Amino acid sequence: MCGIIGYVGPRPCREILVDGLKRLEYRGYDSAGIALITDEGLAIRKDAGRISVLEGILEEDPIEGIVGIAHTRWATHGIPTQRNAHPHTDGKHHFAIVHNGIIENYSALKARLERNGSRFETDTDTEVLVHLLAKSWNGNLEESVATALKAVDGTFGIAVVSDLDPGKVIGARRGSPLVVGIGSDEYFLASDVSAILSHTKHVVYLDDGEMVVLTRDGYRTQTLDEVAVVKAVEEITWELSQIEKSGFPHFMLKEIFEQPRALMDAFRGRIDPGTGETRLGGLNLSADQIKRFDRIVLLACGTSWHAALIGEYMLEEICRIPVEVEYASEFRYRKPVIDDRSLVIAISQSGETADTLAALREAKKRGARVLGICNVVGSTIARESDGGIYTHAGPEIGVASTKAFTTQLAVLVVLTVHLARLRGQAIAAGNALVRALVGLPSLVERCLEGSERIREIAEVYHKHNNFLYLGRGYNFPVALEGALKLKEISYIHAEGYPAAEMKHGPIALIDQNMPVVFICTRDSAYEKILHNMEEVRSRKGRIIAVATEGDDALEAKADHLIYIPQTLDPLIGLLSVIPLQLLAYHMAVRRGCNVDQPRNLAKSVTVE
Ligand code: G6P
Repeated sequence: MCGIIGYVGPRPCREILVDGLKRLEYRGYDSAGIALITDEGLAIRKDAGRISVLEGILEEDPIEGIVGIAHTRWATHGIPTQRNAHPHTDGKHHFAIVHNGIIENYSALKARLERNGSRFETDTDTEVLVHLLAKSWNGNLEESVATALKAVDGTFGIAVVSDLDPGKVIGARRGSPLVVGIGSDEYFLASDVSAILSHTKHVVYLDDGEMVVLTRDGYRTQTLDEVAVVKAVEEITWELSQIEKSGFPHFMLKEIFEQPRALMDAFRGRIDPGTGETRLGGLNLSADQIKRFDRIVLLACGTSWHAALIGEYMLEEICRIPVEVEYASEFRYRKPVIDDRSLVIAISQSGETADTLAALREAKKRGARVLGICNVVGSTIARESDGGIYTHAGPEIGVASTKAFTTQLAVLVVLTVHLARLRGQAIAAGNALVRALVGLPSLVERCLEGSERIREIAEVYHKHNNFLYLGRGYNFPVALEGALKLKEISYIHAEGYPAAEMKHGPIALIDQNMPVVFICTRDSAYEKILHNMEEVRSRKGRIIAVATEGDDALEAKADHLIYIPQTLDPLIGLLSVIPLQLLAYHMAVRRGCNVDQPRNLAKSVTVE
């Protein structure tokens, strides 16, 4: 989704800004642009397409300056064209603005501005902001930005520069993240810390309703109503090497292979395999509070929603408490029954997904206690939750989520055991889970050894345009996740189904052209799923089966077998998803797709 970077300091910043944009590429975009305050005034270069297109333009028609802003756009209003790319400027070319989010009342504002003489050149909602700003101009940039924003409904993270107040970058946010980077005598503004991590690790996160004024001499934070706010400076713990490919051809493959380490980081210090005890310091919940909850609601989108489904199975099995899993986008609008006896858990890798954030706020409004399970430290969901657990997966750059998913599962296991213990339930089962979890990273290593074999399977099937993924029990959400991975990055239509539901519809699709991926491990659903496999075989469907090591019986049933180690039922998804991630990856590579930045998708969906 759109990305922002801004700079004020002693250095010429064109390259700093373009490099920052490259660090934001992973979020997904279709246009890129830059605005600098040059000796001749405001200068803008922008175009549709990759950042390399912008670089070409800058080479042919160079600009330079020590104050500037830049943007990667992911189209919402108006198709990706040069005109619609950000930065946008006013008729007199004095102000430039880049914007993430959506201005909801832009049609009304546009009509009003047009009546007052503004001429619009783009199809974007953003352009109203810059015209509003020009109309609000009073000689001081931050004051004029604050005035302009008063008229706006909707969400924004913006960066603004002007040659009329040339030493400043102004940032403001409502619903779209912005972070200030503090360097030595230089200051950055970004929508995501990866854009500035190579320059500084000291940051200040803006909250909704806040703005910042950056100059060479420092930064000042205030509310949109211009009341000063003092903000804590935080230190980023991620290393630069973590946002680079380190010899892997794609971020996605690197992140798949990072899973053993990421899992270890997710449970390190939180479990004691000797006693089965769990420590989750950030929950901010007493044992009494935990006993009072009469249900748990899990909110998420995309891959995180699949992790939530597995969480539901685990929490109900081990804690014996009713659990519901909701698409955050539905929950936020459907008047859910929630009260102070509900524990609501928002699961989000980025911690910025607009729907999940809005659902969390809705739950809070209705009196629920809200926890966040997030990967990005300092993200909005993490900060707005009453407590939570970081997954510690490290930065995930590939748009298709992999290590974020497995670390979410690991954290959900720890949370399940933790809640069960405090409610005095399933102590032995909890202890067994904790012990098994400790051994999981080395089992994941074993799954990763199958990568080459899976590449060979991808070689056979890469021309197919439809896939079915079937699983039961804990492997049903894994089937959904496997299908999602395949469609996201290889553009193959794939559906995940509970295996037994196949006979209520998808079975009509089965013939020799329909590959079916069965997740058929030796768990409590094993015998049942064998019947479903027979149903596919007898209709000549091609079967790729993910099976437990040593299960030779399946050799006669499946066309291709991928073995994974045995583990406890609630943990099986942590292993069975690995071959499915690899299958999607190798298929996408074989089909020549852009694995890390699939078309139309965004890493962090900060609009509704
Ligand atoms: C986007 C990403 C998915 C992700 C989903 C939820 O669609 O492409 O990979 O699962 O958002 O993101 P979150 O950051 O909330 O987990």
